[in-house]
Amino acid sequence: MIASGSVPRLFIARRLAVDPAAVAGDGLEIDQWDEERPIPRQELLRRAAFADAIVATLSDRVDAELLAAAPRLRVVANHAVGYDNVDVAACTTRRVWVCNTPDVLTDATADLTFALILGVARRVREGERIVREARWKYWAPTMLLGLELRGAVLGIIGYGRIGRAVAERARGFGMEVIWSGGSAAGSVPLDDLLARSDIVSVHCPLTPATRHLIGPPQLSRMKRTALLVNTARGPIVDEAALCAALEAGTIGGAGLDVFEDEPRVHPGLLGRDDVVLVPHIGSATGATRARMAELALTDAARVLRGERPLHPVNEVVP
Ligand code: 8YV
Repeated sequence: MIASGSVPRLFIARRLAVDPAAVAGDGLEIDQWDEERPIPRQELLRRAAFADAIVATLSDRVDAELLAAAPRLRVVANHAVGYDNVDVAACTTRRVWVCNTPDVLTDATADLTFALILGVARRVREGERIVREARWKYWAPTMLLGLELRGAVLGIIGYGRIGRAVAERARGFGMEVIWSGGSAAGSVPLDDLLARSDIVSVHCPLTPATRHLIGPPQLSRMKRTALLVNTARGPIVDEAALCAALEAGTIGGAGLDVFEDEPRVHPGLLGRDDVVLVPHIGSATGATRARMAELALTDAARVLRGERPLHPVNEVVP
C-alpha cells in the first residue's frame, strides 16, 4: 500500500535516462516504475491513485478510466512529442495539464529517418545479409543497384518541426523536396505528392484525421519504384495495405520505425528484404532521451509548484 501524504507525489511510469530526483528537485515525493518494460495497466491505475503528477510514456494510456482512478492528478507530462496516448479533452475537463517534449527530439528523429531512407534506398539490409550468410562470392557492376538520392524527389507528409529537419538533410543530399499537410506555405495536394515522389516520408501527428491516411488508394498513387518511410506513428499507414502493395510490387520498399500495434509487426513485413524495420527508436540517442526526460520532469514539477508548464498542449483554467 502506498501512503498518501501532504507532499505532492510525482509518479514516473518508466525508467528514464536521467535520475528524476536530480531534475525534479525538492518539495515532492517520487514514485517510479523503474523498469524498461511498460507498467501493467492495473499497476498504473493503482499507483495513479496517489499521484499529483504523472510522467507517462507512449504506451501508457491516459484516458477516462485512468483519470477516474487518479483524483489528485494535476498534470500528465508525456515523455514524447506525440500525445495520441492521452485523452487531452478529458484531461482539460478535469483541469489536468498535458505537456509534451517538443524540439529536443527533432534532430534525432530526422537523423533516424535518413538512416531508414539510406537503408532502403541503398539496400543495406540485403547487402548485410548476403555478407553475413557468406553468400557474397564476387563483386559485380550490376549487384544490389539502388536509388540515387541526388535528384530524387522526397515527399514529406507533415511539414512541421521534424518534417522540416528531414527536408534540410535531404537538400544536403541534393534531393528535390516537396511537402503536403497543414498550413505550410508551398504545400502540394497529397495525391500530387504521392504521384511525384521517389521517397514518401511521414511526419504528421496521429489524429482521427490521419489514421490510415496512407491506405490502398494512396499506395496505388505511388510510383512502382517509390519507397515509403514512417517515423511518425504506425496507424497513419494501413500496415496490411502496405504489405499487400509490397507483395504486389506496386511500390518499391519501406523503412518503418513505427507500427500499427507496437510491439507487434505485421507478419507479412518480417520476411521481406525490401523493408527495413526498427523498434520505434526515432528519438533514441542518449542526449535526446535525457533532454526529453528533463523536459517532462521539469513541467511536472512546475505544475506541482503552482507554476505554468513550459510545454503545455492544453490550457487549464485555474
Ligand atoms: C518516443 C516518440 O521515443 O516523441 C515521440 O512522439 O514517438 C518518441 O520520441 C516515445 O514516444 C517515448 O514515449
